[in-house]
Order: sequence, then C-alpha cells, then structure tokens
Amino acid sequence: MSEGGLNDEVADSIVREAREEDLDAVSVLAARLVRMHHEWDRERFMRAGPSVEAGYRRFLAGELTQSASLVLVAVTPAGRIVGYAFGRLEPRNWEMLMDDSGVLHDVLVDDSARKGGIGAKLVLGFVERMRARGAQRIVLHTAAQNTAGQALFKKLGFRVTMLEMTL
Ligand SMILES: CC(C)(COP(=O)(O)OP(=O)(O)OC[C@H]1O[C@@H](n2cnc3c(N)ncnc32)[C@H](O)[C@@H]1OP(=O)(O)O)[C@@H](O)C(=O)NCCC(=O)NCCS
Repeated sequence: MSEGGLNDEVADSIVREAREEDLDAVSVLAARLVRMHHEWDRERFMRAGPSVEAGYRRFLAGELTQSASLVLVAVTPAGRIVGYAFGRLEPRNWEMLMDDSGVLHDVLVDDSARKGGIGAKLVLGFVERMRARGAQRIVLHTAAQNTAGQALFKKLGFRVTMLEMTL
C-alpha cells in the first residue's frame, strides 16, 4: 500500500467500544505497552514474559464484563485495529486523595498508525465517555521517560499533578 493510502486509511479510523472479538488484536498492542515500560525501567515495571499477550487478554476480557470499565479501539475502515485505550470510572480513593474519577490506564497506537491523530481520538473518546458517565475529572499516570505520551496529554489539556518515586 502507498504511504498516502496508509495515511488515508488511518485518518478515517473510528473509535468505538471494544468487543470480545477485538481482544486478540488489543492484547498484542497491550503487550507492547508492557514491554516498552519494562525496557524503560526494569526495576519499576513488570517483566513481559512470553505469556503477556494471553495474560492481558484474560485481564481485558474480565474488564469488559465490568460496567465501570471502558475499553476503546481505533479501527480503520478495513477493520484493522490500530490502537486501543483502557480505563475505568473509579470510586473515591482515600490513598490518592481523589474523589471518584475517570482513570485512563492504557493508550497505545500501532507504530504504523502513529502521528495521524489516532492517539488524540482515543484519549478524547475516553474523556467524552467518562464525562457522560459523570466523571468530574480524568486522571492518568505516564512514565517519566514517556515524552511522546506526555506531549499528547499536555496537548489535550492535561496538567502534571503527582510525581511517583521508586526506591
Ligand atoms: C503516545 C501515542 C499514543 C500517541 O499516539 P499518536 O496517534 O501518534 O498521537 P497523535 O497523532 O494523536 O498526536 C497528537 C499529539 O500528541 C503529541 N505527540 C504524539 N506523538 C508524539 C511524539 N512522538 N513526540 C512528541 N509529541 C508527540 C503531539 O503534540 C501531537 O500533535 P501534533 O501531531 O499536532 O504534533 C503513541 O506514540 C504511542 O502509542 N506510544 C506508545 C504508548 C504510550 O506511550 N502510551 C501513553 C502512555 S500509557
């Protein structure tokens, strides 16, 4: 496919809620997120063994049955899943000093589809759906090394509110 074709395909992607049959593709993307974090800091982020795809698939299948959870996929017109986001509407959390909030845990776009607006579509799709469910705020954590993620979130209006430290 020409580069233009690929860009057009990606630009026309839609964001929708994930279904069970999407999870094979989503878990491949999720495993990349795990590996990427482990590479950044092996003492903080869990190791991604060969079964991480299967483990993440089971985890997300469980999340799909929870009404508080939200798994989104970005899908091209041809039906290719090129990104996903996952988070929850979480209740008041005393440890985090946080009233109930929409918490975005994961967002990842396939390498072949980056810089085409999909990451922004996924995050905004998550925010919109969480606000519709009553979330007063949306919170996320991003690795200190993750400059691309931080740039995306800042561009969409997120501000830095906490720093995690590890010993
Ligand atoms: C972060 C990520 C989701 C961005 O997805 P994307 O589809 O490429 O992002 P978009 O095309 O919607 O970019 C929107 C904005 O984000 C910022 N951005 C995205 N990628 C960037 C990069 N590599 N470097 C700097 N800024 C970046 C830019 O401000 C960009 O706006 P611009 O195109 O007008 O400059 C993608 O790089 C990714 O999957 N990274 C690995 C997973 C990850 O880090 N997830 C976030 C933490 S869980």
